[in-house]
Amino acid sequence: MLSQDLELKQALAKRGITRRQLVKFCSGVLATLALPERYLAQTVAAVGKARKPVLVWLQFQDCTGCSESMLRSSHPDVADVVLDLLSWEYHEVIMAGAGGHATAILDRVVKEEKGKYLVVVEGAIPTGDDGVYCTIGGHSAMEIAETVCRNAAATIAVGACAFDGGLVRSNPNPTGALGVHEAVPGIKVINMSGCPHNAANTAAVLVHYLTFNDLPALDQYNRPLFAYGRIIHDQCERRAHYDAGRFVTEWGDEGHRKGWCLYKMGCKGPVGTFNCPIVQWNDHTSWPVRAGHGCIACAAPRFWDHMSPFYERVPNVPGFGVEVTAGEIGVGLVGATIAGVTAHGLIKMIKPVPKPEPAAETTPQQGREN
Ligand code: SF4
Ligand code: SF4
Ligand code: F3S
Repeated sequence: MLSQDLELKQALAKRGITRRQLVKFCSGVLATLALPERYLAQTVAAVGKARKPVLVWLQFQDCTGCSESMLRSSHPDVADVVLDLLSWEYHEVIMAGAGGHATAILDRVVKEEKGKYLVVVEGAIPTGDDGVYCTIGGHSAMEIAETVCRNAAATIAVGACAFDGGLVRSNPNPTGALGVHEAVPGIKVINMSGCPHNAANTAAVLVHYLTFNDLPALDQYNRPLFAYGRIIHDQCERRAHYDAGRFVTEWGDEGHRKGWCLYKMGCKGPVGTFNCPIVQWNDHTSWPVRAGHGCIACAAPRFWDHMSPFYERVPNVPGFGVEVTAGEIGVGLVGATIAGVTAHGLIKMIKPVPKPEPAAETTPQQGREN
């Protein structure tokens, strides 16, 4: 234990990180993962291992927003600690090498670390016209993903684009873009949807992997339950206004200035799942709804197509928020919801669900259409 502490101390000292900061980071990660503090010592010890797993970060049809989200964290948490936890060998944005030298590194990792390395994918994979719409070093994104993801211990698909094609795949999808799990079926993949992904959640997944040598529990879209298991509406700080029938009806009106509910401005919080009300963004300072804009459910499947128009309200459905649980929210449900199906039609689409725990959900108030 003493020598392990020494190794950890030295590795972190190089980055100017104190042990106190590391323990605080691990404690925050456990909170994000909803794991008890009794795992703290194990987590701190795991991140101090001398042999760090190799990680490669691939970028395909993307805007680099997910890389930015990971790298621009201003406190030492993600950018410093997590980058130091892994042997980060390939990332086109931040690596010094380029051209043949860079691709040789990737080839070496696939060959020498086969079955042991982690791969993060950012961006969609175009499958139309033999993948000609995204090529790197003479190989299509499809070929690279097939080789690199297929030989990895696990693939982490960050952001909406890598999850299900995101913006690139939105109608009419001229490049035939797909998410990683569709383009490379059958691999071990964890999806960190959102546009961008939330770096704190991705960091938590990496630490979970380092600590327990496994991925956390996943939902039906292979997303970690700790991050995508709850409806945003149920975690929202404006929920009391929704329940009381206090709504913003115009940008800049009195309700908007007072922080009332954004449901009537098109907020998709009632049909989106994500932990952004809790984990938040920009070093835990805020999130879209706190900033005064409705949620567009950016972590939902095919949200560009299924959640737009973004400023149209989700139709008032009797019982909404009571019968629907995070597990049932999917493409069919939200797509039809935004299209404005009748309450009767919607309820028919929802699988029968057990009665919720009394404290888990709140009955919405009536009369929201006024
Ligand atoms: Fe950019 Fe959003 Fe795609 Fe990430 S998910 S690469 S932020 S468009
Ligand atoms: Fe919050 Fe949106 Fe739900 Fe209103 S509708 S309580 S703003 S999530
Ligand atoms: Fe995305 Fe809505 Fe959160 S837009 S960041 S899921 S509040």
